[in-house]
Amino acid sequence: MIIKNPDPLDFSYVPQKLRFREKQIENIQRIMLEPLKAGISSNLLAFGDSGTGKTSTMRYLAREEKKFFMVYQNALSFSSLRALVLDSLARLGRVTGTKNLSFPEIFRAMKKVSDERGRNIVIIVDEATNLIKFDRDGIYNLLRANEVYGAPVSCMLVSMEDPSIYMTERDKKSLGVFSTIHFNRYSQDELFEILRERGRIALEQGTYDDSSLEYISEVAKPFGSARVAIELLQKSAYVCQYRNGERLESEDIRAASSMINPYVTESKLGELEPEELAVLLSVCRCLKDEASTELSCVIRESKVVAEQYSLEIGADSMVYRIIKRLEDIGIVEGRVVGRGDRKGVAKMVGINDVPVGVLEEKVMEMFRRK
Ligand SMILES: Nc1ncnc2c1ncn2[C@@H]1O[C@H](COP(=O)(O)OP(=O)(O)O)[C@@H](O)[C@H]1O
Ligand SMILES: [Mg+2]
Repeated sequence: MIIKNPDPLDFSYVPQKLRFREKQIENIQRIMLEPLKAGISSNLLAFGDSGTGKTSTMRYLAREEKKFFMVYQNALSFSSLRALVLDSLARLGRVTGTKNLSFPEIFRAMKKVSDERGRNIVIIVDEATNLIKFDRDGIYNLLRANEVYGAPVSCMLVSMEDPSIYMTERDKKSLGVFSTIHFNRYSQDELFEILRERGRIALEQGTYDDSSLEYISEVAKPFGSARVAIELLQKSAYVCQYRNGERLESEDIRAASSMINPYVTESKLGELEPEELAVLLSVCRCLKDEASTELSCVIRESKVVAEQYSLEIGADSMVYRIIKRLEDIGIVEGRVVGRGDRKGVAKMVGINDVPVGVLEEKVMEMFRRK
């Protein structure tokens, strides 16, 4: 047995100490928590790629900060911000018995809880992208809880992209300026240190060595993601255990990376809009028997797919833009090739790290689910 405690290998585990996020934590304290001690509410936006420690940092703060009521919420569990804020009120111990409270009523009740118990409130809204995009009224109410309703409520919105990109100038004006905190990707050295700490508490001593952890951090480095690193450690440890191995070998790590690849793809697919999935599906279809395809095929195929799923894919430029985004996320790879005989160059796209058939199946499954 090489695993002595599986819990720290689970993605929901929040470490005792959060290294390499000191700067983010310090900024959150300086910009939001210190002023709040003096009764000054403010709002913050935190953003960064998957696995950069956003959720852990929020849960860490919610666990450590005793001077406030810190309510951590995952927006994916709620259909609206009003439902989320109402649930937060319940979590503060105020059960209302009705789901029909309006924002003013909810915030009035929050103010009361806060006054009675002498602590101000911070609501953390994790994975907030969709609510920011689609629940404008909720965002407006939540971010102005203090100004409009006099409730001592500060809010921290967390998402993968800088949410201010979805906000119009008018939004920004009405919501006021607020600060953002960026969660940058981890370096290979940082991933190595994170793995070392996790290995120490999860694995039996002497069943692995630094070179294995170095190898894992190298595989995880292109993602800069602690989630990918820890998941690789977990999977390779189970692979090793399954073959009754006594020590973690490179071969176990290789097996783990081939297992994690589809997972990485899936988490990337989860971020895509239907139109983007449609273009990706078209790329897959154009690549049936080819290593790479010309954009003209993708454009043609996109029209067919769009019609099939009742989507709007109008101008060709939209397909170009989507391809560019798929390249940025690393799902498709673009290359420019000469056409020969001075006919200029053509842009080709391909897909490298997943079998096209598998990806096509996955995308269609996502459409079925939507
Ligand atoms: N600085 C860190 N130190 C130790 N573990 C970390 C750190 N940052 C992230 N992790 C671990 O990586 C995994 C993913 O982190 P998470 O906070 O969920 O990322 P995000 O919310 O940005 O996607 C979790 O298991 C978490 O415990
Ligand atoms: Mg998260």
